[in-house]
Amino acid sequence: MAEYRIAVLPGDGIGQEVTREALRVLKAVGNKFGRKFVFQEALVGGTAYDETGVPLPPETLKLCENSDAILLGAVGGDKWDNLPSSLRPEAALLTLRKHFDLFANLRPIILFPPLIDASPLKREILEGTDIIIVRELTGGLYFGKPKERRKNNGDVVAVDTMIYSESEIKRIANVAFQIARNRRKLLHSVDKANILETSRLWREVVNDVAQDYPDVELHHLYVDNAAMQLLRNPRQFDVILTENTFGDILSDEAAMLTGSIGMLPSASIRGDGFGMYEPVHGSAPDIAGKGIANPIATILSSAMMLRFSFQLEEEARAIEKAVLEVLELGYRTPDIMSDGKKQVSTTEMGSLIEEALYKSIS
Ligand code: IPM
Ligand code: MG
Repeated sequence: MAEYRIAVLPGDGIGQEVTREALRVLKAVGNKFGRKFVFQEALVGGTAYDETGVPLPPETLKLCENSDAILLGAVGGDKWDNLPSSLRPEAALLTLRKHFDLFANLRPIILFPPLIDASPLKREILEGTDIIIVRELTGGLYFGKPKERRKNNGDVVAVDTMIYSESEIKRIANVAFQIARNRRKLLHSVDKANILETSRLWREVVNDVAQDYPDVELHHLYVDNAAMQLLRNPRQFDVILTENTFGDILSDEAAMLTGSIGMLPSASIRGDGFGMYEPVHGSAPDIAGKGIANPIATILSSAMMLRFSFQLEEEARAIEKAVLEVLELGYRTPDIMSDGKKQVSTTEMGSLIEEALYKSIS
């Protein structure tokens, strides 16, 4: 690719602040490696609603369609919580995922050794944690119909629908098995097959797909047990495959293994190179505008973009290495701060990573 077109959607709350730092880092990578990244910004979420009356303006969607990848900050905030569901900031995110068929959400749970004491969990439990959660992203409860309110004999009833097809399960299972094949060849599929019909189908299809991957060891776990096992012994996991809602919940839980949700990147992909990259954390309205948000999750998301959408592995590693170096030097945003370390702001963290990047590859 002669140039890489990136749609930049900072969104709401700390999304604005963390995206700025990721852009600074991407520009540094572009300069150092002679890559041409073209950034074009557009509105999304509550910010878009305030300016245009909708959370995902047509111009934003068009820009994304004409780009090679999307870098997104975060959407949402109390201010927009009482809007009808189609106008809520989150609707923009769900529409983007569905519109581009980004069915595979990859969430690496990597513990950076210098942060081992930032987690509330014990060192003995955490050491060596290296997991990737493969979350199905375009099905299940998030999108199933009916999804509505009804009146039933004067009582108000709300319904969401959990629905999965064989083909949806098959394609996400294949992604997970392929990733597992290139790692420790160990896959845990998480469901609730003792209760849910969708989970029983999930298990059957995953077992079928497993026939094509005899080299990968497969285990099935109920989601309640998986939630416990993640804290009891995270090292037993390598790749975790699960449906949309379970993946949402388990990834926030797993974030605490890394010290802070401010460390967790994600990639939402469909297998042809196009993808959307965003931190796992939300817009955090409580700390927005204070300059204390951790930009590392978004910076690491941009590294995932270089790796998965642009096949720029060396550049992606340079970013990850720069992050590690800055942490080794003792710099911390407040969410990962511990005794004896140097507390820095969002922009200071961004510029330290930028500097480390320039130094290490010059
Ligand atoms: C996530 C977020 C989103 C989700 C919200 C913001 C809609 O929590 O990406 O994990 O539930 O998928
Ligand atoms: Mg979530």
